[in-house]
Amino acid sequence: MRTHRGNLNTCRYKNRAYASLRSPHQRKSGSLQCRMLFLLISPVLLSGCSANDEALPERWFSATQVEQGANIFASNCAVCHGERAQSTPDWKKVDSNGAYPAPPLDGSAHAWHHDLSVLKKTIAHGGIPLGGTMPAFADKLSEDQQVAVIAYFQNLWPDHIYRKWAERFFNQ
Ligand code: HEC
Repeated sequence: MRTHRGNLNTCRYKNRAYASLRSPHQRKSGSLQCRMLFLLISPVLLSGCSANDEALPERWFSATQVEQGANIFASNCAVCHGERAQSTPDWKKVDSNGAYPAPPLDGSAHAWHHDLSVLKKTIAHGGIPLGGTMPAFADKLSEDQQVAVIAYFQNLWPDHIYRKWAERFFNQ
């Protein structure tokens, strides 16, 4: 059951998610201000935002970001992580090149052990600097696109996994 307090917490972690992901320039952007108003004051003030841009229940991202992220994921990530971020059942075993396959990002592995800034760094810089094989996307995807792709795969996480992640990183 969703309590009043639960809703407040949801808002709090949504705001922190945005704050940690946006550059100061982007923080001033009109659409974000609109979203902040939505989160902080009242949905009535939403009239200026498209209905489609509302944050999904209990999640920090909007349906629009998930949709954008799906396209980005299909063209950049699915080749290694799988069409629906499910990877391969053998993702824990090294392949014939001695490297680990890309892990699932659908909530069935350990992506939820990382906060947004770590997920974002992984996408921006890849895994090669840490001895892995994932390529870097900082030059290929804008910051908004990187955030949208996180929204896409976090949207695949079952509620209980998303909740554990949110409690760990936003409700301390
Ligand atoms: C060439 C294959 C490849 C592509 C393309 C790729 N990845 Fe990865 N990814 C990996 C591998 C392999 C790892 C494990 C770490 C390593 O070896 O670098 C990984 C790890 C990750 C992790 C950390 C997961 C965890 O549980 O710690 C995230 C998040 C991630 N990738 C997201 C993405 C996203 C988003 C894209 C597309 C923008 C993408 N990856 C594209 C291969 C890939």
